[in-house]
Formats: sequence, structure tokens, C-alpha cells
Amino acid sequence: MNEHDDTVNRATRLWTLLDDAQALLQGTCERTEAAQVPDLSACAAALTCGEEPEIQTGISQLDMESLRAAVHSCTRCGLSRTRRNPVPGAGAARPQVMIIGEAPGAQEDESGIPFVGRSGSYLDRWMHAIGFTREQDLYMTNIVKCRPPENRDPSADEQAACLPYLLRQIELLQPKMLLCLGLVASQILLDTTDSLGRLREQTHSFHGIPLVVTYHPSAVLRYPEKFRAPVWEDLKRLRSCVNELNDED
Ligand code: URA
Repeated sequence: MNEHDDTVNRATRLWTLLDDAQALLQGTCERTEAAQVPDLSACAAALTCGEEPEIQTGISQLDMESLRAAVHSCTRCGLSRTRRNPVPGAGAARPQVMIIGEAPGAQEDESGIPFVGRSGSYLDRWMHAIGFTREQDLYMTNIVKCRPPENRDPSADEQAACLPYLLRQIELLQPKMLLCLGLVASQILLDTTDSLGRLREQTHSFHGIPLVVTYHPSAVLRYPEKFRAPVWEDLKRLRSCVNELNDED
């Protein structure tokens, strides 16, 4: 590349950054009053129908430490027989954004920490680009807390068995926003069979908490040309919603 091309490239990148910065300052986002302390136990009961009421009540009353212990000794589904380590979740105590993936992969199963593999470092880069760090701003977890063998999709029963933990985590952490990565997380939380393309079209509300849907980092790593630009749009919307909510506080 000659010097002129290099200058043009840098100028183009700068304009893109300025556009992005402007877009981040725009947009609207609402968080309803109900979102301050959502009560998700009824939702958990509905989604895990047929289960003993006291089991439901048990999870919906745990504090974070006991929840982690409960996940560690959990045998609510068959994934407990094949996991090495359960992966309850990790991050800030009062997160701006709770990131919800599908299920732990091999490296997460090995370490007990969410999003430490290749998609995890890519996700860290996305978050860094919009000014968030794991420790201060984010809480990362998954729909199911144990790795499905061969990284298959978690079954409906496995998702339903694990969901009460996630709902209790949302209640305890009270994140400003939720970010669902991929179809599994988006469809179960929004109780829909709509496509991801469709679900990306708007910011949703999960019991009053604004929820943004985007592609899973592993999909973007596989098909960067197709998914990188839409993901950037979603991340900018997420950031501007968080900014608005912070301005309101
Ligand atoms: N993919 C996920 O959905 N979650 C993880 O924790 C790791 C990879």
C-alpha cells in the first residue's frame, strides 16, 4: 500500500468512527418501573411446569452465593452427568449489561468460567469497542450452565430445567440491559420461534428490562462478511440504550 492509499484508509476509518460515535449518541430506550426489581418466579414456574413447587421456590429465594453452590451440585438434567465443571456465570455485581449465551463450550467446561474460548475473546473485543469490561460493567452467563456433549444445542428440557437459575440471577443482579447471543437464548427468553434476523429488528422488553438480540460470536467468526456489520449495529444500539438509562438515573 502506498502512502496516499494509507492516508485515505485512515481518513475513511476515522469517518466511520465519527459516524459510529454520532449513532451512539442517538436512539431511544425505555426501562419501565417494573424493571427495578422484576419478580420472575411466576415466569420460572410457568416455564418449568410439572415441577415440585418447593423446588421452584427454593431457587427463587437463593442469594448469589447459594445459587452458585446450587448450580455446582445441580442434577436437574442429564448434562450434570457429562460436565466437568458447571459454569454458573461471572462478572460485575451490578452489571450494566447481562450477556446471555447458549451453553458452555469445551474451555468453559474445563475452567468453570463463561466465554473463555475463542468466541469469548472475540466477545471481549466487541465489548471493549463499546467501552465495557467484564469486571466492571458486564455479567456473562448462559441459558444452560453445563456443557452439552459435542457442543450440541441444549434440548428444550435441559433449557427448561436450567432456566430458574438464570431468572434468579436476573432478579439478583438487576442488570440495566440484557444482551442475548444467538437463537437459543433469544427464542427462549422472548418465548418465540421468530428468526434472529426478525428479532434483531427491535429492542425488546424482558419483564421491563430492555433486551437486545444479536448473532452469537461463533457465528460471526465463521461468517464475518455476513454478520460483522449487523452485530456492530446491534452493539451501538445496546450502548446508546445503556447511556440513556444512565442519564435517567
Ligand atoms: N458459547 C456460549 O454460548 N457460551 C459460552 O460460555 C461459551 C461459548
